[in-house]
Amino acid sequence: MSAPREVASGGKFSIARVARAWYVACASGELGEKPLARTILNTPLVLFRGLDNKPAALLDRCAHRNAPLSLGNTLQGELQCAYHGWRYDSSGVCVGVPGLVGDAEKNVRAVPRFPARDQDGYVWVYTAADEEPTAGPFRLPAASVGYTEVRRSVEVSSTLHAALENALDVPHTAFLHQGLFRGTGRTSRIRVRVTRTTDRVEAEYVGEPRPEGLVGKILSPSGGIVTHFDRFILPSIAQVEYRLGAENHFLITTLCTPVDDFRTRLYAAILFRTRFPGWLVRLLIEPIARRIFSQDAAMLRRQAETARRFGGEHYSSTEVDVLGLQIWLLLKRAEQGEAPAEDWLREFEMEV
Ligand code: FES
Ligand SMILES: [Fe+2]
Repeated sequence: MSAPREVASGGKFSIARVARAWYVACASGELGEKPLARTILNTPLVLFRGLDNKPAALLDRCAHRNAPLSLGNTLQGELQCAYHGWRYDSSGVCVGVPGLVGDAEKNVRAVPRFPARDQDGYVWVYTAADEEPTAGPFRLPAASVGYTEVRRSVEVSSTLHAALENALDVPHTAFLHQGLFRGTGRTSRIRVRVTRTTDRVEAEYVGEPRPEGLVGKILSPSGGIVTHFDRFILPSIAQVEYRLGAENHFLITTLCTPVDDFRTRLYAAILFRTRFPGWLVRLLIEPIARRIFSQDAAMLRRQAETARRFGGEHYSSTEVDVLGLQIWLLLKRAEQGEAPAEDWLREFEMEV
């Protein structure tokens, strides 16, 4: 009898935890008077607004008896624990203990604090406690005249790597999202140019005719050639850019926040300009985008479940898995604090 074929996966999961990086914790508008609980890279955090309304992030655990500080309240820019009422300032220092005669600061250990700031409509948190970051968060492209912006946020059950690869993966669009965007039967051979530099990898798809699916037809009934870029930018940003003719421009920036090893929150900022009014495009495209997104989310969940059921992942890749391995390489180097790889360029042909 022959030996059974090897099916185990060696317990490997593509998990990279890039600390010392800025991640979106919430939209700026979500953080008001009530403290918010958020988890980033497995670390429970409490967010609140301190003096001058500036965001603050502390470890979500009271120094006194481990109550989650996110159950508490914000009072005059200080965070008060819901259990015995200890009060903390934005730097995590305990500034008040009810009933204590004397100075709280001298008696009490501070709660670890994480740098936080409002930028481009999001609250960002730097994931290293009590450290000062040397650079700021990623700058989102601003909406210029004629552009409409839509923002959406959703959580997916997937590793950060799988979520990033999905956001930038072309071949699945013809299959999983058949007919909505690509995958109407007609294919064309196009050139792909992949460039990797210190903090990013970018694929440029040259000469793709307008996709035949519903979205392309709405935007450009007369066809045309698409200029298309897919970019991954460290630590966790996926950006897709499409231009179709002089009028149509779409720039979708997805800021991914690793909640834990198998949950990722996506904050998508979608900027677009077309020959139609923004509200009309929104109305037409939104139901399609929602459908595309729920197909992706369902597949990511099933992919993660399957990998876990088998005790690990099993990958094989071809040239048309254009960015997945490069994203992994950049994430892994960043996680280990290694110097970036040499700049690198590759060109090949594929069918879309
Ligand atoms: S546990 Fe927070 S004040 Fe006691
Ligand atoms: Fe997709």
